[in-house]
Amino acid sequence: MGISGKKESEEIRYAVVTGANKGIGIETVRQLATVPGMTVILTARNERRGLEAAASLRDSHGLSNVIFHQLNVQDPNSVESLAEFIANQFGRLDILINNAGVSEVIVDEDSLRALNLDSASWLSGEAAHLVKDIIKTTNDQANECLNTNYYGCKRVTEALLPLLELSAFGANIVNLSSLRGELRRIPNEQVRKELGDIEALTEEKIDLILRRFLHDLKQGTLEANGWQKMLPVYSMSKATLNAYTRVLAKKYPKMRINCVHPGYVNTDINFHTGTMSLEEGAKGSVMLALLREGGPTGCYFDCAEMAEF
Ligand SMILES: NC(=O)c1ccc[n+]([C@@H]2O[C@H](COP(=O)([O-])OP(=O)(O)OC[C@H]3O[C@@H](n4cnc5c(N)ncnc54)[C@H](OP(=O)(O)O)[C@@H]3O)[C@@H](O)[C@H]2O)c1
Repeated sequence: MGISGKKESEEIRYAVVTGANKGIGIETVRQLATVPGMTVILTARNERRGLEAAASLRDSHGLSNVIFHQLNVQDPNSVESLAEFIANQFGRLDILINNAGVSEVIVDEDSLRALNLDSASWLSGEAAHLVKDIIKTTNDQANECLNTNYYGCKRVTEALLPLLELSAFGANIVNLSSLRGELRRIPNEQVRKELGDIEALTEEKIDLILRRFLHDLKQGTLEANGWQKMLPVYSMSKATLNAYTRVLAKKYPKMRINCVHPGYVNTDINFHTGTMSLEEGAKGSVMLALLREGGPTGCYFDCAEMAEF
């Protein structure tokens, strides 16, 4: 039985998934929407792409409980408009999945394919020196990446927290992270220590770390100062997202707030080099979105398994 006295299968829940017009996001919406009592708000920055995605789930899968609302996580007005819509329509929110993400890199895809990298060396980061001249990021792209993956996630979460606090079930927040954000992949010991010190960690400290990172990026001293070699900006956006997840979980102990690496999934973000299906890639997010009272919070998961930050 749920806390309302109703069977769990009858509970009415409202969920938001960001960046859900394609990839892991749309599949997450599909899987969540099969849960009885669930209404899923599929959001996308592009209205046409979002409407088409929601219509495809309704038409091909009979999921009439999927509704679309525009959301660009970089745009405060768009975030505010989503919060207003949910407040007016549903009066609360039970699940937030911060899925929207970008890599913001310029890739010479032909050269990347020609390298014929095996997934083990790609995932371990051993290939960093090989892809150095093939995958590049400009300063503007670095700002876009951080503003989407880290600050975008924070912006949406902060706007929706008052509605999540009204959930009778103790809301669930899921942040889509990446193995690139794991602490062991940061060569600089001081940064590892600061991001891993959950007792002392604050949002202000995370901001300061990102400022140091951006300074080194502009100076061209990332490697010399021990930041990640493989996809450094994307990696830092996820390392800070993991840290934020822990800070938030401490602040809201009634909620279950976790982050997840979805696996190496075949989507646009990795130029379709990923080896896992969308169905497998969405499983971790959905599992964490459906956690019940007493479930883990402030944790990092590698797919469906709890793992080291
Ligand atoms: N695929 C993997 O192997 C893998 C591994 C580790 C982590 N992840 C994470 O999983 C999440 C989903 O990625 P994916 O693999 O499904 O990639 P994807 O297919 O490229 O999907 C990314 C989604 O994010 C949206 N998005 C980007 N910027 C946005 C913004 N400013 N506002 C709202 N939406 C925005 C995209 O919308 P548009 O269509 O408009 O661009 C798209 O819907 C990301 O956070 C990613 O970092 C993926």
